[in-house]
Amino acid sequence: MATAMCEARQGRICLRLTARTIVLSSRKVVTMKDNALIDYYDRLYSQPGPTFKGGPSDAVIRAAELIAPCSTLDLGAGEGRNAIYLARAGFDVTAVDFSEVGLRKLQKEAKAARVSVRIKKSDVLGFEWDRPFRLIVCAYVMHHIGRAQGLELIEKMKRSTERRGLNVIAAFTTEGDFFRKDPVASAELFYPKLGELDQLYSGWEIEWYFEGTTSARKCHPDGTQMQNVSARLIARKP
Ligand SMILES: C[S@@+](CC[C@H](N)C(=O)[O-])C[C@H]1O[C@@H](n2cnc3c(N)ncnc32)[C@H](O)[C@@H]1O
Repeated sequence: MATAMCEARQGRICLRLTARTIVLSSRKVVTMKDNALIDYYDRLYSQPGPTFKGGPSDAVIRAAELIAPCSTLDLGAGEGRNAIYLARAGFDVTAVDFSEVGLRKLQKEAKAARVSVRIKKSDVLGFEWDRPFRLIVCAYVMHHIGRAQGLELIEKMKRSTERRGLNVIAAFTTEGDFFRKDPVASAELFYPKLGELDQLYSGWEIEWYFEGTTSARKCHPDGTQMQNVSARLIARKP
């Protein structure tokens, strides 16, 4: 994952999930692989140095230019490349992730950068939305979430955004090797189709929408890098 999340520059890795999902309640689908996913990210984040070496997401950089520092929620923040970037720019950031190792690394990085980021260890699907935010970021998390839960999460993000606030989403689409590698299992997860993400924000102002191909660090058996099209969106609530 050394080059992960370098949109339009280099690759990223994505854990391909094949386990079946089980519905535990009407609000939450817990997958058989949840613990494996947490372990995976815990292991990843326990390696020294930044896991995602490309710096913050381009959508986050753009969003910070479109809105003054404000209350911000980063869902699936990981080790915090986006959260720390925003905190450094003066945003009041709450970072949510279920990887404790990732959040500890985030906190350490925040301390080194002399900024403060509020961290919450939680499944994003079980996150308690006790207040609205002006900026909500969810970058490269949707492909780990069931499709219905992803759509529901977006609705929660929209509802919990202050008027004139922004949502920023980056997601792998169905156009890519991650999805195609196992289309049956992937169909259960939230890989938006091309053009789908901005349609989900009809009625909002689309400040920026971009779909672009990126090379993944993860390789095919023949050694060639996987390619994916990711969708990046910045939408403003009316
Ligand atoms: C590919 S990383 C992206 C991290 C970060 N958003 C970024 O762009 O650098 C995906 C992150 O989502 C987290 N994640 C995935 N599913 C989650 C869930 N259901 N609840 C909380 N965190 C989750 C993982 O632990 C991991 O940190």
